[in-house]
This record gives sequence, C-alpha cells and structure tokens, in this order.
Amino acid sequence: MGDEVALVTGAAQGLGRGFTEALLRRGAKVCVADVKVQTGEATVLRFQQQFGRDRVFFFKCDVTCEADVKAAVQATRDRFGKLTIMVNNAGISSEAQWSKMVDVNLKGVIDGTQEAVAVMRRDTGGQGGVVVNIASAAGLIPVHTTPVYAATKFGVVGFTRSWAANPHLASLGISFACICPTFTDTDMIVHGDFREGRSLYTEDSQRMMAEVGVMPLSQVVTAFEQLLDSPDNNGIVMSVTNIKGVRVRKHGRPSRL
Ligand SMILES: NC(=O)c1ccc[n+]([C@@H]2O[C@H](COP(=O)([O-])OP(=O)(O)OC[C@H]3O[C@@H](n4cnc5c(N)ncnc54)[C@H](O)[C@@H]3O)[C@@H](O)[C@H]2O)c1
Repeated sequence: MGDEVALVTGAAQGLGRGFTEALLRRGAKVCVADVKVQTGEATVLRFQQQFGRDRVFFFKCDVTCEADVKAAVQATRDRFGKLTIMVNNAGISSEAQWSKMVDVNLKGVIDGTQEAVAVMRRDTGGQGGVVVNIASAAGLIPVHTTPVYAATKFGVVGFTRSWAANPHLASLGISFACICPTFTDTDMIVHGDFREGRSLYTEDSQRMMAEVGVMPLSQVVTAFEQLLDSPDNNGIVMSVTNIKGVRVRKHGRPSRL
C-alpha cells in the first residue's frame, strides 16, 4: 500500500478520520477533505506529527459544491502526483434538512465518484484504483424513522453497484465497493437525528438503537481495511453490525430482471 494516494471526504472527525489513520498506518498519502476547517486542520496536524508532514494535508471541501470536489481531487494530484483510493464518506443525518441531506449524502457521493473516475481511469492515462463509498445499514433495509436518510443510502448502494456492474471496468482499472455499518460511536450518533429525538418516531429510534447497539469506530475501520485487502473488491457491499460482525455480499453483473 506504500504507493497509494487517497482522498477521504468528511475526514476531519469520526469514521473519515479513522479511515485516514488506517490509510496512513498502511503507508498511503492522504488528503483530508472536509467543510470543518478548524477540526480538519487539528486532525491533520496530529497526523503530520505522527506520520510525517509530507504524508497528509487538509483541503477545505464542501461535497455539495462541484467546484470544491474537483479542486480537492486536483489538489491531491498536485501534491502527491496521482489518486488511487477515493473514499466518499462525508454524510449528515437530519430529516429536517432533507434536501441538504440528499445533496451531501447522495449528490456528494455521486460527484466524488465521478471526479475520481475521471482521473483514475486507465484508458485515459490514470493509474486505476478503488472507490469506496460509505453507505449504511439504512441503505440495505427500510428505516421508517429516517426515510430520507435511508433513501440517500439506498441510493449510494445502488449507484456503487451500478458502477461495479459496468462491463467495461477492465479498461478503467477501477473497482467500486461500499460499506454499510449500523450505529457507530461518532458525533453523528451524539448529535444526529437518532439521539436527539428529531427522527419521526423518537421512541422507535431509541428502541432500535438499544436493540442493535452502538459499535466502536475501530470495528468499522477494521472492516474498511479488510475491504482494501480483498484481492477482488469490486462489487462488494460490506455490512458491518454489532451483532453479526462483517458480512460481505459480492455483486457482479446482474443476469436479468
Ligand atoms: N455513525 C454512524 O452510526 C453511521 C452509521 C452508518 C453510516 N454512517 C455514515 O458514515 C459517514 C461518516 O459519518 P460519521 O458517523 O463519522 O459522522 P460525523 O458527523 O462524525 O462525521 C461526518 C463528517 O462529514 C463532514 N461533512 C458533513 N457535511 C459535509 C460536506 N457538505 N462536505 C464535506 N464534509 C462534510 C463533517 O464535517 C464531519 O467531519 C456518513 O456518511 C454516515 O452517514 C455513520
């Protein structure tokens, strides 16, 4: 992995920061992209002290802004010469701001994937690589308490699987996979809809969280590393749950409807 260059969106904190640390530990160089400038810069400073100044940098990027996403990809290539791992992780949980949530969780992932494909694809001079999109268990099963969040995550799973099913992937040299965790111990759980009673049915939400449990962040980061280590990770939809651990579904090209 020593030669890999990654861009992680929403990497100032939470899961994105965890993925970044794992990538740095494995020898990759990383662009930490986030809207939160202070938190992002503090995260990067800590990583620079641990892994070296030239291994990681912060780039202010709002994934709902196409110019920002393009600029983050370009900055990564300017700094490190290429891009080989794109992690579309930035996300929010807020049914009250449903339109913004669609923009961050779905449009941001679509845009990040397409910008990455444009520079990674081998048939136009890129070096190939992998796109990892962070969906959710709410992208695999209906969640009546947060229907818009679920819609964005179903969208991320469908979008990722559609790229993975592309019969022309060999010429691109890119694989596409996604990770679908249940509740994980990050700010999203502390401030997101589930905990603060802003979901449609607060009691149902809290019961759901009590039944499913909250995983430590390290459990999802370990799953992310397992995904990177899979010899053929194209089409993997990896579910990570407190109860059943990691389960891998591998989707190739669909046969027929
Ligand atoms: N925590 C969970 O229970 C859980 C479960 C399943 C999936 N996820 C998904 O994991 C991903 C990471 O979430 P987290 O749990 O680490 O939450 P978090 O709130 O700790 O981190 C989210 C990060 O995304 C950034 N972000 C938000 N909007 C942005 C934007 N427009 N542009 C750029 N960055 C933006 C935030 O600043 C923050 O740093 C999200 O996509 C989330 O939906 C989380």
